[in-house]
Amino acid sequence: MKKKFLDLAKQPLANSFLHNIKKKNLKREYFYNLSVSFDKKNHQVSLTKHVNPKMQYTNLYAHRASQSQTMRKFFQDIALKLQRKFKPKLSMEIGSNDGVFLKNFNKKNIIAVEPCINLAKITKLQGYKTYSKFWTKKLAKNIVKSHQKLDLIFSANTLSHIPNLKETFDAISISLSKDGILVIEDPYIGTVIKSNSYDQFYDEHVYVFSLLSISKTVSLSNLRLFDSEPITTHGGSMRYYICKVESKYKPTKRLNYFINKELKQKLNKFSTYQNFSQRVKKSKKDLIKLLTSLKKKKKKIIVYGATYKSTTILNYCNLGSKYFDYAIDTTPNKQGKFTPGKHIPIISPQKGFNDSVDYAFLGAWNFKKEIFKKEINFIKRGGKFITHVPKVRII
Ligand code: TMP
Repeated sequence: MKKKFLDLAKQPLANSFLHNIKKKNLKREYFYNLSVSFDKKNHQVSLTKHVNPKMQYTNLYAHRASQSQTMRKFFQDIALKLQRKFKPKLSMEIGSNDGVFLKNFNKKNIIAVEPCINLAKITKLQGYKTYSKFWTKKLAKNIVKSHQKLDLIFSANTLSHIPNLKETFDAISISLSKDGILVIEDPYIGTVIKSNSYDQFYDEHVYVFSLLSISKTVSLSNLRLFDSEPITTHGGSMRYYICKVESKYKPTKRLNYFINKELKQKLNKFSTYQNFSQRVKKSKKDLIKLLTSLKKKKKKIIVYGATYKSTTILNYCNLGSKYFDYAIDTTPNKQGKFTPGKHIPIISPQKGFNDSVDYAFLGAWNFKKEIFKKEINFIKRGGKFITHVPKVRII
């Protein structure tokens, strides 16, 4: 049974950037109550109530996975590693976004599944077989019928977005070959708890998985975990290697190591999440206090990266244009728009990241390394970054 442990207030959809902030438009802005629960039975951490996916994954979906150099390199590395190690004949990616992973495969050897029409168009134009549909058992059966069973299914930052995990993993089970493998990666609850990164919770992250929860969930679809690997993307994720129950793969030592680590971290106990919730409340207080004191000193503060994650922070802490002059973001289709809920204007870094900026709040804190390298001149002239991870502080 699900038990609520965290309340993150009224939130807009993280992806719902506004074209204008005329009264009529603001009246139509959709808000829902964001709260997070823990299920003792399967150790799953999930949103208490999820939003209808048809509202989220539309033709206007803004996120482009290939925007960051870190991510392009990261997806190239994993695509090559998986092909070298597992030698799949036919592969598939669920949630292929703008093709940042696919493009490292021969077009004949990989299939893309992407429900957002604007994104599916990109990979179709590049010549990849792309199904512009939600991932379901029906689609899995169609794919197996039209092609063959799959030796590798890859899915990054997607399965945790799908409310119906039983249907999702059943569909995967249908389409995997006998020794085919499923590799998924998603933000990791162990890191969220450790880093106090509560902004991993927003409408699209229906689940934030652990090994304990994934293990139980996939077992209901004749699948099992055989390996796992922590990765640094999205501020701390886990990569899960999954196969059919009767497959040749044996559980690895490192899988056992990380499962034991989760038990030590008490990710199976409700009290862990209650304590986390107290730390989140403190983080909110600290951030408001810091920003208020800087504004009293007439400092110019901006948001660096109009990320989906930052939607949670801005709306939970009630931080709008009183604190931030604007947000900067490299994604062209976020520029010229306004952030969901708090309506902070978004402009390009070329326009907005100039000498007038005193402080930049890291909305894209998960790209801190890449950003600090790029913004060396800002740092040299005394510009400062602010983050809330793992604690509210000026860097
Ligand atoms: P993500 O954390 O959901 O991947 O989103 C990262 C966002 O941050 C994306 O909109 C691009 C933006 N961004 C910048 O504006 N500047 C940067 O240097 C980086 C790395 C990301």
